Amino acid sequence: MSAPNNPYDPVGVSALEPAAVDAAVQAALVSIAKAADLDQLKSARLEHAGDRSALALANREIGALPPAAKAEAGKRVGDARAVVRAALDQRLVELEAERDARALVEESVDVTLSTGRREAGARHPLTTLMELMGEVFIAMGYEVAEGPEVEAEWMNFDALNVPPDHPARTMQDTFFVGSEDSGVVLRTHTSPIQLRAMLARDLPVYVVAPGKVFRTDELDATHTPVFHQIEGLAIDEGITMADLKGTLEHLATSMFGPGVRIRLRPSYFPFTEPSAELDLQCFVCLGASVGNPDAPCRTCSSEGWIEWGGCGMVNPRVLRAAGIDTDRYSGFAFGMGVERTLMFRHGVTDMRDMVEGDIRFSRAFGWEV
Ligand code: DAH
Repeated sequence: MSAPNNPYDPVGVSALEPAAVDAAVQAALVSIAKAADLDQLKSARLEHAGDRSALALANREIGALPPAAKAEAGKRVGDARAVVRAALDQRLVELEAERDARALVEESVDVTLSTGRREAGARHPLTTLMELMGEVFIAMGYEVAEGPEVEAEWMNFDALNVPPDHPARTMQDTFFVGSEDSGVVLRTHTSPIQLRAMLARDLPVYVVAPGKVFRTDELDATHTPVFHQIEGLAIDEGITMADLKGTLEHLATSMFGPGVRIRLRPSYFPFTEPSAELDLQCFVCLGASVGNPDAPCRTCSSEGWIEWGGCGMVNPRVLRAAGIDTDRYSGFAFGMGVERTLMFRHGVTDMRDMVEGDIRFSRAFGWEV
């Protein structure tokens, strides 16, 4: 840059010569045209239009020129700088457009691509149903009780008044843990929890106990060797069969909606006296198939009712096994299959669907984690 007091600076003048100005413009245009992206254009702008660019320096020299030369040199440098600025602006527009077009391609999302995302797991419909059934009882003041799946044979049978020669105690139904005389079994029903609850709790006792049970059945559409039951037990003063029926009716309506009918059919269980089978009115034909060969029902075999579980008044021998004063207390008990409940409630026709682990089955029940 020229010294302020020097009226004539030969270096400054040479920078203002038309050839030098043209050369600066040409160099700028080449570098702008070659800029392949916005960063390179930024460098080009700095180099050819920045404060230290040849044209900026030349511009500064104008002040040192004699007044007569100023106008012409000023116009030359001003025009040159305008050409460079215009080229920069135009290239900027081009490069920004290119960048946007590239972003549109590169950042586009193919919504048809599989995501590879792992789906969150969900609980099995049987688990959620057991919980739902449990909640119906919790709302009536019951507690949820538990017992071991590997159970003492005595708890599973003897304490429930199932004598050693009872057919249910043969190898046919029961999985023994170890040898047949080990005294340890996989529980064949949730009823031993009745006894455990009576032994562990103070009276009165109101419990429900959902859980896994095991029987040596082959897996087919209506049997599985591992299934679930929900047991109920109420021991209090003055409990009658009417309480049992009302409680079961409430469970049935909670599970299947208002208007569903149940029936208690006289039966036999060693641990209840009297005992009854709990039947549910067939939800498919509502009894219309009974005595009506023109409209048979496969769900209930045209009987109008389907078996849901067993129940009765707790046999005093069982109460006594738990040390309960049978003069003062009585109770009812019931147990029903959870798989059956799911089948009736949701129209599942094949039990194998519940154990095969195909999520298309579970998904129909919604994701409940
Ligand atoms: N434990 C019986 C079974 O597995 C079902 C049952 C019947 C349970 C009568 C009960 C009852 O509590 O009172 O077949």
